[in-house]
Amino acid sequence: MNGKMHRRKEKKMTVLVTGNLPEKVLSFLRREHHVVSHAENRPMERGRLLEMIKDKAGLLCMITDRIDDDLLRSAPYLKAIANMAVGYDNINVKTATRRGIPVSNTPGVLTDATADLAFALILAVARRVVEGDRMTREGRFKFWAPMYFLGQEVSGKTLGIVGLGRIGRAVARRAKGFGMTVLYYSRTRISSGEEKKLEIAYCDRDSLLSRSDFVSLHVPLSPGTQHLIGKKELAMMRPSAYLINTSRGPVVDEEALVSALKKKAIAGAGLDVYEREPAVSSGLKVLENVVLLPHMGSATVETRTNMAFRAAENLVAALRGERPPDCLNWDALRTGAPETSQEK
Ligand code: NAP
Ligand code: GLV
Repeated sequence: MNGKMHRRKEKKMTVLVTGNLPEKVLSFLRREHHVVSHAENRPMERGRLLEMIKDKAGLLCMITDRIDDDLLRSAPYLKAIANMAVGYDNINVKTATRRGIPVSNTPGVLTDATADLAFALILAVARRVVEGDRMTREGRFKFWAPMYFLGQEVSGKTLGIVGLGRIGRAVARRAKGFGMTVLYYSRTRISSGEEKKLEIAYCDRDSLLSRSDFVSLHVPLSPGTQHLIGKKELAMMRPSAYLINTSRGPVVDEEALVSALKKKAIAGAGLDVYEREPAVSSGLKVLENVVLLPHMGSATVETRTNMAFRAAENLVAALRGERPPDCLNWDALRTGAPETSQEK
């Protein structure tokens, strides 16, 4: 055994993986570390997580795991956290930083899959795809008639994107294929060159809400985006407009949304995420003008495998003492500067 391999062997640590990842990702992790992995296709229970984390050096966690002060207190040996998701609202990054723990996420690898799903929701809700499927399966498809089962055209309509990051931009690119006019609102306006290239126009949030036929949300969840869409904002939308949410449930006030949908203040909604996930308001479940999905934006074999590898690479790098490719708090750990934040 050469010196390098010997050194690596000595440094083998134990990491906890809280989801059932593909074997090839676990093998990749096992090359450097002992791996304790949750083998079930469901989230790890909180009590078990708190128990299992006690002696671990690394954590590869899921959005269903709350990495809060309690958990961090239960993890005296923890040296690295890798979230298998781009959103990291499940992690208290500030406390992790104070404890000197690098935290990483998996940006980019899930952009296309999530943008595809946002578009699937746009088409499904406007063209009544799920309602039509239900009707056909139940034997209620009895005839074709000119004014029967009409939906709303998607092509040529106006799409308003709230949060023009990686996924927002990918949704904008898809919309151009449908000949849509695309408006966007983000806290930062992009350059006019980029606006031209993407063929999109900036507008303030309120005008976006009142001008769009489809409003699609792509912001991270933060104190600044919680209930970004509530009663007042829903009232600004057109009665013919649809709300699409593939960001995080608490970005929308779900009670206000149910009320707007019931009153037909808006035409419908396509939702992948919920305020009290996995619970879904009973008010939503009884409405025909909504399409409800189980937080599956990134759920393709290719994307979930890429996310798992990316998280594993981040974890391995952090445990080697190197900068993880997607570290959220590297500068803060080194210099005390504010960590990458979803807040401004
Ligand atoms: P991103 O590249 O960081 O984009 C987020 C954008 O939101 C940024 O451009 C940011 O721009 C903007 N933003 C932040 N706060 C805002 C505010 N208060 N008002 C308006 N805009 C705001 O992130 P991404 O990769 O596109 O992912 C976005 C989110 O999608 C994730 O955080 C995650 O929660 C969610 N997601 C869900 C699924 C799913 O399965 N459903 C899958 C992947 C991601 P400014 O800073 O300039 O405002
Ligand atoms: C999924 O919701 C993610 O943030 O990656």
